[in-house]
Amino acid sequence: MDNLYLWIKAGHVVSLIAWMAAMLYLPRLFVYHAGLPAGSEVQSATFKIMERRLLKAIMTPAMILTWIFGIILAVKSGYYTSYWLQMKFLLVLVMSGIHGWLSKMVKDFAADRNRRGDRFYRVVNEVPTLLMILIVILAVVKPGG
Ligand code: HEM
Repeated sequence: MDNLYLWIKAGHVVSLIAWMAAMLYLPRLFVYHAGLPAGSEVQSATFKIMERRLLKAIMTPAMILTWIFGIILAVKSGYYTSYWLQMKFLLVLVMSGIHGWLSKMVKDFAADRNRRGDRFYRVVNEVPTLLMILIVILAVVKPGG
């Protein structure tokens, strides 16, 4: 593999770390936000700011960069014909769908429309974790060649 490919792969890994950090932290913020007792307007306002900034400043740009770098790697390496990358691609699509779902939750919290309890968000928190483990195994072990 040429040098440029490795630099692009480094960019891919850095951006996916930022994306995953935010995907794991945002539902954690929802757990605490949803668990606030009634009348906690000041704390709730602080959570709203943290959630919006995490989404806009880190999570979405990091997702876009992960996709851009990933697609360049897939084209340059020719791995797009491989089983592992096709499976990975499906799981990354699901991850991106969850990204969209989480950003809708940010909007709902911002408009005081959240009606779900903290236990719901604890379960939601596990989904990106599980997907991430499967995606990393596919990318590193490359089962099926
Ligand atoms: C957005 C769509 C994505 C595409 C098209 C894509 C594609 C690729 C390709 C072609 C490689 C190069 C493999 C190699 O040279 O060995 C790679 C590496 C990697 N990808 Fe992705 N990727 C995507 C998203 C992700 C996500 C979301 C994660 C993690 C959650 C991830 C984790 C990794 C890891 C850990 C490597 C390094 C593998 C290694 O060096 O052995 N990728 N990706």
